[in-house]
Amino acid sequence: RSTRFYDFKVQTMRITKLCNAKDIVTINGMFPGPVVYAQEGDRVIVRVTNQTPYNATIHWHGVRQRLTCWSDGPSYITQCPIQAGQTFTYEFTLVQQKGTLLWHAHVSWLRGTVYGAIVVYPKTGVPYPFTYPYEEHIIILGEYWLKDLLQLEQAVLASGGGPPPADAYTINGHPGPNYNCSSNDVYKIDVVLGKTYLLRLINAGLNMENFFAIANHKLTIVEADAEYTKPFTTDRVMLGPGQTVNVLVTADQPIQRYSMAMGPYMSARNVPFQNISSIAYFQYLGAMPNSLALPAPLPSFNDNLAVKTVMDGLKSLNPVDVPKEIDTNLFITIGLNVQKCRSKTPNQNCQGANGGVMAASMNNISFIKPNLSLLEAYYKKINGYYSEDFPGVPLKFYDFVNGAPNNIPNDTESMNGTRTKVLEFGTRVQLILQDTGTVSTENHPIHLHGYSFYVVGYGTGNYNPQTATFNLFDPPYMNTIGVPVGGWAAIRFVADNPGVWFMHCHLEIHLSWGLSVVFIVKNGHGELETLPHPPADLPRC
Ligand code: C2O
Repeated sequence: RSTRFYDFKVQTMRITKLCNAKDIVTINGMFPGPVVYAQEGDRVIVRVTNQTPYNATIHWHGVRQRLTCWSDGPSYITQCPIQAGQTFTYEFTLVQQKGTLLWHAHVSWLRGTVYGAIVVYPKTGVPYPFTYPYEEHIIILGEYWLKDLLQLEQAVLASGGGPPPADAYTINGHPGPNYNCSSNDVYKIDVVLGKTYLLRLINAGLNMENFFAIANHKLTIVEADAEYTKPFTTDRVMLGPGQTVNVLVTADQPIQRYSMAMGPYMSARNVPFQNISSIAYFQYLGAMPNSLALPAPLPSFNDNLAVKTVMDGLKSLNPVDVPKEIDTNLFITIGLNVQKCRSKTPNQNCQGANGGVMAASMNNISFIKPNLSLLEAYYKKINGYYSEDFPGVPLKFYDFVNGAPNNIPNDTESMNGTRTKVLEFGTRVQLILQDTGTVSTENHPIHLHGYSFYVVGYGTGNYNPQTATFNLFDPPYMNTIGVPVGGWAAIRFVADNPGVWFMHCHLEIHLSWGLSVVFIVKNGHGELETLPHPPADLPRC
């Protein structure tokens, strides 16, 4: 095993997109940021120095952080932010994982521009389960705003309403020809007729789930969330923010220029979004350089069936070791609601998460971030920052019919709180995640830190234990699951990684509104089951 060292400088950089110049926060002046390359089993050390006036942290999304909870990165959960001028060194080992993941900032809305890929190659001599392609490329989907992101965040949360749509969707930072002033701001892959390519697709967007397709070409999914899958061939994929999918694509079409396109998947009603696709080029060697790119057919923005089709196709490559018995079974509603005081005093800051009026909750608890890291509070036994009473069932009635809320708003009100769920080491956990909400139902990409989980079941409508069918044989092993709009998903994992682990909706606005919960996993016995001491340079609040 070797050690990979990276030096990340958080810096601002002047950038011009869509005919407008602005300062964005980057790592090392790169947008998207530098790629972290490693091999399975490697030790990764990233020294992060904050040269901006803003608070920063970096999260290694999907890295399971075995016994290294201190390096996970979510602000106020496992660490205080790295303040202006400070340095913090993240250190972790890539234990039994390989594939494509991403890193991103995990404080305020900084991750809108502070993100990049993590590529973990198999150990030397360990073959891929597919023929290794001719070449590989990283494709990161993003969202771009002309406004300063931190100002945008404050304005949106103060308004109490939803966020404005991105000004552009981007592929590797480029909006592409559908946007103003962007006909040359296009990402391009040159391909050779007859060759096969591996595309490492990452959705690093803030608030939008996205479809991705290449005109006239099939995509074969071979990996999702850095785990091999049974090869599944499809015309398109859907990725929620935080999700990664590796696909193989063969350049087997007439020599031409083709579009690679991303466009929104928006299952909620009444949410504003840009129904424009961002386009990159998949260009054959020998094609006329300025020829028109053949358009890629994306599903319509609300095509839930297209999403289900992709989901149905995801299976682990081999049979997997799913926990058959369950020690802790939690039923968790996830959804959006309007805090009660809104109707009395419109736009007044009252009970909403982080001072807002819109709220989002799990089991009617809208999560409030503390002003100290929960991991530190837990580890040092400092009282007063959190409670251990996250309910195992919703506090309020959640029923709805056919995916449409039919319930009066009062019954899905949320309460603010910093409530955690404590799990003994080794607990076999099942979570039933049920989408609900009085504002809208929608597909929520729920992400768990510190673990991957088996997605053993999902469906539309209310979860019904009598009729639900589970796949305990070869379910996909993921870190982020798009819970179907107006439906449910069941996930299982063994809580064998001690620490304080965040679980939240990866739509950033929902996270701001409180759609999250924290699991505290206790130590087991012996050194291999015990969280070590905090690193000496851990930032202070
Ligand atoms: Cu990728 Cu807590 O996030």
